[in-house]
Amino acid sequence: MTKQNNGEGGLEALLERARQAAENAYAPYSGFRVGAALELTNGEVVTGTNVENVSYGLTICAERSALVRAVSQFGPAIRIRAVAVANLNGAPSPPCGACRQMLAEFSSPETPVVFPAADGERTMTFSALLPAGFDMKLK
Ligand code: THU
Repeated sequence: MTKQNNGEGGLEALLERARQAAENAYAPYSGFRVGAALELTNGEVVTGTNVENVSYGLTICAERSALVRAVSQFGPAIRIRAVAVANLNGAPSPPCGACRQMLAEFSSPETPVVFPAADGERTMTFSALLPAGFDMKLK
């Protein structure tokens, strides 16, 4: 959890942190090893990996793993400046729908998300990734 000051230009370094996190994946069932790195507006980078379970549906994705770690460590006021996702399987892996919804809670529409796509790494904003996410507008 080192300080970093990534803007759009720092996404490559954030991706490298996501790749490193994927090395810690616990994925004995799927063999799909995913890492995520969140750059927070306080300058901290928090990583996570997927943790599977023999009761398959209990598995947590790398992105949500990183998110719960970030809130646990830095509190409920965190905001996400950038997200990077990587996997060690050489496959496309955009964040799943559940992770998009969870990350959106702490992101802005302009927050960039970089992930492995079929044609290489792709960067999309949250507004493009989750155009109609659920929001009760209570905040
Ligand atoms: N997985 C993630 O970690 N992130 C995603 O966005 C999609 C899927 C994990 C869950 C499971 O351990 C493995 O990838 C295969 O689905």
